[in-house]
Parts: sequence; C-alpha cells; structure tokens
Amino acid sequence: MAGTEEGREAAVESALGKLDLDAKTRLLAGQDVWSLPELPEIGLSSLVMSDGPVGVRGVRWTADDPSVALPSPTALAAAWDPELAHRAGVLLAQEARRKGVHVLLAPTVNLHRSPLGGRHFEAYSEDPYLTGVIGAGYVNGVQSGGVGTTVKHFVANDAETDRFTVNNRVGERALRELYLAPFEAIVEHARPWGVMTAYNSVDGTTMTEHHRLVNEVLRGEWGFDGFNVSDWMAARDTVGALRGGLDVAMPGPQTVYGPALARAVRDGRLDESEVDDAVRRVLRLAARVGALADAEPAVTALPAPVDGEALARELARRSFVLVRNEADALPLRPGTVALIGAAARDARVLGGGSATVFPARTVSPLDGLTAALPEGALTYAVGADPTTELAVAGPGFALRTVCRDAAGEIIGAGSAPGGLIQWMGSDLPTGVTHDNLHTVELTGVFTPRESGPHTFGIKGTGAFTLTVAGTTYFDDVQLPADGTDPFEAFFGAPAPRAQAELTAGEPVEVSLTHVFALPEDIPFKVISFALAHQGPQRDPDELIAEAAEAARAADTAVVVVATTDRVESEGFDRRDLRLPGRQDDLVRAVAAANPNTVVVVNAGSPVELPWREDVAAVLLTWFPGQEGGAALADVLTGAHEPGGRLPTTWGSLTDAPVTEVIPTDGELPYTEGVFIGYRAWEKEHRTPAYPFGHGLGYTDWTYESVAITGSTVKVRLRNSGERTGREVVQVYLAPTGPASTPDGRPAPERPARWLAGFAAVEAGPGESVEVTVDIPHRAFEVWDEADHRWFFVKGSYEIQVGRSIADRRITATINV
Ligand code: BGC
Repeated sequence: MAGTEEGREAAVESALGKLDLDAKTRLLAGQDVWSLPELPEIGLSSLVMSDGPVGVRGVRWTADDPSVALPSPTALAAAWDPELAHRAGVLLAQEARRKGVHVLLAPTVNLHRSPLGGRHFEAYSEDPYLTGVIGAGYVNGVQSGGVGTTVKHFVANDAETDRFTVNNRVGERALRELYLAPFEAIVEHARPWGVMTAYNSVDGTTMTEHHRLVNEVLRGEWGFDGFNVSDWMAARDTVGALRGGLDVAMPGPQTVYGPALARAVRDGRLDESEVDDAVRRVLRLAARVGALADAEPAVTALPAPVDGEALARELARRSFVLVRNEADALPLRPGTVALIGAAARDARVLGGGSATVFPARTVSPLDGLTAALPEGALTYAVGADPTTELAVAGPGFALRTVCRDAAGEIIGAGSAPGGLIQWMGSDLPTGVTHDNLHTVELTGVFTPRESGPHTFGIKGTGAFTLTVAGTTYFDDVQLPADGTDPFEAFFGAPAPRAQAELTAGEPVEVSLTHVFALPEDIPFKVISFALAHQGPQRDPDELIAEAAEAARAADTAVVVVATTDRVESEGFDRRDLRLPGRQDDLVRAVAAANPNTVVVVNAGSPVELPWREDVAAVLLTWFPGQEGGAALADVLTGAHEPGGRLPTTWGSLTDAPVTEVIPTDGELPYTEGVFIGYRAWEKEHRTPAYPFGHGLGYTDWTYESVAITGSTVKVRLRNSGERTGREVVQVYLAPTGPASTPDGRPAPERPARWLAGFAAVEAGPGESVEVTVDIPHRAFEVWDEADHRWFFVKGSYEIQVGRSIADRRITATINV
C-alpha cells in the first residue's frame, strides 16, 4: 500500500492533518540556502536541493565536495539521444544520493532564442521538440534514481539582462508553440516532481505569481502534480506568490513565506486551505524521495551503479559536432601534432554561474592527447590567451583557508583548491559560525609557470588585505562594482591590486585576508570572494608567431579556441559572438603555416568562426565536462567517431535573425513570434555558417527509401562508408499549401519546415538498416490565439528526411 501513489497520498494527508499553521508555513520557506526545515513531529526530514544540471554541487559551493562534471546541456542535446540523457540522469541521481540531495535543480529547458543569451550553454536547443525529448530523458533518468527534479525556469527565461525585472512580451502562440512546449512535453512524458518558476515576468505578470500559467496551464491543463519552487530570491509577495501557485520560496531564512505567510492567513488575506494545497505538494515530494517516514518512496529498487568518469567521456565524444572535415583531415593520420591554445592546457570544461560544479579531476586536451599519441609526437604552444583579464587563481596555486575570531585565534580551516571562496548559509568550515567568524584568510603558495610580472587581484566586496611574497599590496575596502544583479559578487569582474615580478618554478607565499561583515537585512548569508591572477602578458604577436612555427614543423596542427567565464555565464548576456583575445588571428596564422589545421571549438554556445573555410576541419566540443580531453583524443585519433549534430543554428551575429536581449523600458518584446532559430533563418532566407542538425561522422550514409503509414515514417538507409557509424535520421515536416482554421479563417503563417521527429541508427560498412519515426500529433497543430486552443491543420505536407535541416535526402508527401 505505502509503495503506491495512493499509499503516498494517504501518508501525505495524514501528515498534513498533524501540522499547525506555523509548521506548515515554515515548511514552505527555505531554512537556509539549499534546504527546507525538518518536521520531526510528522517524520519529515529536511529536503535538500542542489544545482544542476551538469553535476550535483551539493550544499557547498567549493571544491571540497567534488561532483562528476558532465558536458554542458548544449552538448547533451547535441547527442540527439534521449537514452543517453536518461543515463546522464541516472548518474546524477547517484551523485545526489551520495551527497544527501533530494532534488536536483535541473534541467534548464528555456530556449536558445538569441545566441547572446548568457546561459545559452545551460539550455538544450532552439527547437522546442528536441528540448522536450532530451529534457524528458534527463528527468526520467534522475527520477528513476529516486531523486526529484525541478524543470526550469518556467517560463521564457531566455536571457540574463535585467532578469529579475524584465517583462518578456511573448504572446500566446509563441508561448504555446515554443517556450511552454518543452515543459508540456516533459510533464507528459516524465511526470517531473518539481518545477522552478523564473525571475522574469511574462506578458505583464512575474512568474512566481503567474496564476494563469502555473495554476491553469501547468497544473490544470497538463496535470502537473509536483511542487513549484521559486528561483533563488524570485518570490516577492506573500499573497501574490501563494495565489500564483508558488509552493516554496527559496532561499531562506528570510522569505515572503514562513512567518509572513502565517500572518497573511491570520489577517484573513489568505485562507489556510490555500496553504494546505502548497504543503500537500511539498509533502508529496518528500514522500516520493523517501523523506517522509510513513511513505514508501517512489523508487525502491535503485538503478545499477554508473561509472561517472566513463559516462562523462562517452557523453563528450557523442556530443562533439564535426562541422567541417575537408579531405578527411580527421581522424588524424599518423605523424606529429602541434597542439595550440590556452584552453588546450587549462581545460575549460563547464560554464559559469549556478551551473558550476567542482569535479575531482579534469582532463585537458593536452593531457588527453599526451596519453593517446606516441611519445615525441606532440608539441604544445599557447598561441593566444583568451583570458584578457584576471581570472580566479587556478593552475600553480596551492591554497587553504584559515578562519579566525576577533581575537585572532584560529577557529577553523578548510581546503581551497582554487582561489574562490563561496560559503553559503551554514556551509562553513567545522567550528566556524557567522557569530564567531572575524576573518577568512586564503593562504598558501604560488609556483609560477612563467617568469615576469604577475598580476594579482580581488573579486568581491568588503575589507581585504593582499600580500604576495612578503609585500602587502592592498589593505583597504573594495566597493561593489556598478552591477545590478544581486549575484554580482559571484559573477562580477575582479579588480587588479598587485603586481609582482616572479620567476618560473620559484614558489612564493600568497595571502588574501577578508574581514567578514554582512549586513543584517540580507535574506541569506553568503561569504563570497576570490583571489584572482593573471600571468605575464607576452607580446601577442610573438606568441602567435611561435605557434605558427610549431604548426609548420608538425604534420597536423590542432588549435583549441575557447570562450572564458567572462563570456559565457549566468548573470549577464554576451555582447558579441567573437572569440575573445587574439584567437581568430591565431587560427589564421596557424592555417597559413599548415594547411592541415584542425580547429577544436571549446565553447558552450555559438561563436563566430570567420576563418572556417580556410582550415581543414572544425570540431565543436561545447563545454565538454571533466573528461573532455580524453574524449577529444578518442575522436581525433579515430578510436571513436564524433557523434554530435547541431541542436542550434551556428551563424554570425549580423546574420542571426533574432538577437535582442536588452529590454527597453523594462520590456523585451518577442516580436518575431514563433520564428526563432532555424524557423527564423529560413523565413529570412539567410544561410548560417552551419545549419541546425548538421554534423559529420567518419562514415557516409545513403538514404534509400522512405515509406509512410499513418503518421509513422520508415526510413531505409545504408552505411556507404568504410567504418561502423551512427546516424541521426531527422524528419522535418513542411506544409505544402495554405492552411485554415476549422472554422475557415486563414491559419497564421507557419515556418517553412520544423523538426517532427528523429531516431538514430548504427550500422557497419555496407549494411542497410531501417529506422522508424513516429510523428506526434502536436507536430500538425497550431495555437489559435483567437480561440485560445490548439487546432490540427489539415492538408498536404512533405515529409523531408535527412542529415540536417539543409541536407534533406529523401521526401514523401502525406495528406492529413
Ligand atoms: C539560478 C537557478 C539556480 C539557483 C540556485 C539562480 O540564480 O537562476 O538556475 O538553480 O540560482 O543556485
């Protein structure tokens, strides 16, 4: 009985009946940054939440508590494989359980509306169908491990500029056909146990108070029965939020729920039954994840354990998109390789912001290729450093933290593998509390890789003392930068504060001391600052010349170009799509020196590749996760084929049809309606650098036939190349005639075609295989803004099957 849904519902009702108003309202507010309070009187343990989506950070924002780091969500989508997303989810549930986390704050299923969106890397695709399929696989995987998810950010949180206040004017049709669609599909196919409502407003109402979209659409129409948590600090109004369907206000302890909610009931502004509905949903979550004593959890037989490193590596190589491969430049032929690029040595494995996790290890491209290639075959040159400003102290630093009280006595200590301290809520080193803490010192040794002037800096606000090699360079207060995002201290830029002449290989002592002081009135306590560093800046032309020389001397040049965490992160949008620093010049110089140049693009979202026709091969590797360098070696050497297909169109900013992310007078109008991504590129008749769905493997495919029965498409294709491969067969639906509504009005303009389904096949050389794709009913539907409902558009359609939206190999017509 207790193991069934009815059993859990009975346990929930019984627990609810035992709670008084104060306990109920306490349960709906964070007790700290990541958790809800325990209620021992009903056998409820504290529910713990954690980001997501590429790993499970846990309740600590430090490297002390490492997590497997999978490739970025853009990479997961590039694999076009819900089964792989499911396996990723199973691993994440395993990580969550290991860390005592009940709910993973993921997946992010907002859409790639503009390539400038700062969190583009953290979402899947510009296409709602692909997003929904990958998201459902992920949620099913996580939840099969008994851990909850919060599909986020509901809805239309597609950019970062003024994200707390922006009113996105989306319109009904675009909402239904694009932005709500992944949420709807995931609710239908994965029954998520949670949703996170976004910071922004949609069509005039902030999402934490959006009765219409939360209560009527999400819960009413779609039957979502999970809990709804606010994005962090998004809930603003007690009555508005509860009426708008928000169950939990995070983080705590100061929120608009808790005592404020109890007061609203006692004052008669809300009815206790409204509170009960929210509590019921939180208790249901607790029952599902096994945090309510009298209820058997939804999952009692856990999936088999997953090897995180192996999965991270497999996923990475399955996500890499080979967009160009002239004269079969890849796989590498035997010979010497000149590896070039700052990110080839200092791996950039994940994007910035709340999606950050701390892997126990990272494999850089240099590590990966050193292990894979014969001794003596590899040389390395930096070429160009894309980090044009100070970055959080990393390679060469061995640091720890020391906490002191006001008398200067040591009260606690911890590790600090990087130069970043981010202690949230009660997450402090053992023995340290907010009451006894006076100073935090980041201290240790720095061993430079290069001789010359090294710059040190401070990120964060408050009183700091910075000492390098015995000299105190800064002993003052650092004031906030001119940012408006409350998380500015996390995402803002460090300020340079010291310059010291150092010698390669000679260790020096470094120390950054921060006097702890927090205003009383902030909703939660965070200690956040960083020691930043930048090595000697060599003459960029000289570096490029050195790299070109190395390329000339080798059989193949492999250049790794990358963005930085000042380019792609939560908290701000991008200003352009250019590679930072002199990386474009670097690629041009290397390509001129060696025609056999392979460029590896290490970026979570589109960047401009102006030299792309001048190099032999271009491989997009996203943020490839902790095993990225090993996966890169797998793919470059040909041990494995790159498996990815573009989940989003890659093109230049000037050509991209939809780019605007900056609101005017607080509003961002989605004037393009349903035409984003490929729908817009095709409407505007513009040709991108690389179209949606594009990606090459190491074999060739011949599409032989297509047959349609009802809405089932059967495709026969042959591996016409010389090695075993995997093909993603994409099915697009193209209306061929005018359409009308059921009552005879002309239907609104539809895109030229849209993704209606896909499936993957594997086949050996010469082998012919058949694949079946079922086209969902929804693919034929349009949202009628006049009637506020879906209608099925009858008529004639071409079913176009192929390798990308632009490479359609075989077609058939259907009439529906
Ligand atoms: C982000 C969420 C995240 C939350 C907790 C917010 O700033 O928008 O995606 O889950 O912080 O870290």
